[in-house]
Amino acid sequence: MATLWIEASPKGDDALSSQLALAYLEGQEYERFSVWGDDVLRFGRDAALAKFAQLFGDPITDDQQSAWQRVLDEIERVRGFDRLVVSSPMWNWHVPHARKAWIDIIVQPIASFTLNERGEHVGTLGEGKPLQLRAEAIELARAAGR
Ligand SMILES: Cc1cc2nc3c(=O)[nH]c(=O)nc-3n(C[C@H](O)[C@H](O)[C@H](O)COP(=O)(O)O)c2cc1C
Repeated sequence: MATLWIEASPKGDDALSSQLALAYLEGQEYERFSVWGDDVLRFGRDAALAKFAQLFGDPITDDQQSAWQRVLDEIERVRGFDRLVVSSPMWNWHVPHARKAWIDIIVQPIASFTLNERGEHVGTLGEGKPLQLRAEAIELARAAGR
């Protein structure tokens, strides 16, 4: 089974969430992908304009087309895996911004999700749900008084 490990802590091997993932994945084959890498794609102006121009049938420039193609290429890279394992700390009651930035790339209409006949959002990247391994300082449920 081809596994993509999406590493959301910038601390590398020092990260508790990464150590959790390393223990979980021990003995298995996987590809490690840090969302903090210098070469990670960013969803900028050209990609955003291309996304909406296409939805509304408007023309796009060559630069916008190239930016959009890089988004599609990243989605295809993810589609090539059978399983996603996400390790992440909590940052300010949310996920680190680099993880959210990467989500903004790979979550795109038609390419990675669509609506089913009941109008519900469904994924188009394949079966299965990503496994998330989390590290945080305060247990969320406890802090919420539950
Ligand atoms: C910028 C930043 C924001 C954080 N915000 C929270 C938070 O809202 N809630 C929490 O429980 N821990 C928070 N923490 C603590 C981390 O979630 C915690 O130290 C975690 O174990 C770090 O995981 P890592 O070693 O995998 O990076 C924050 C840490 C940082 C650096």
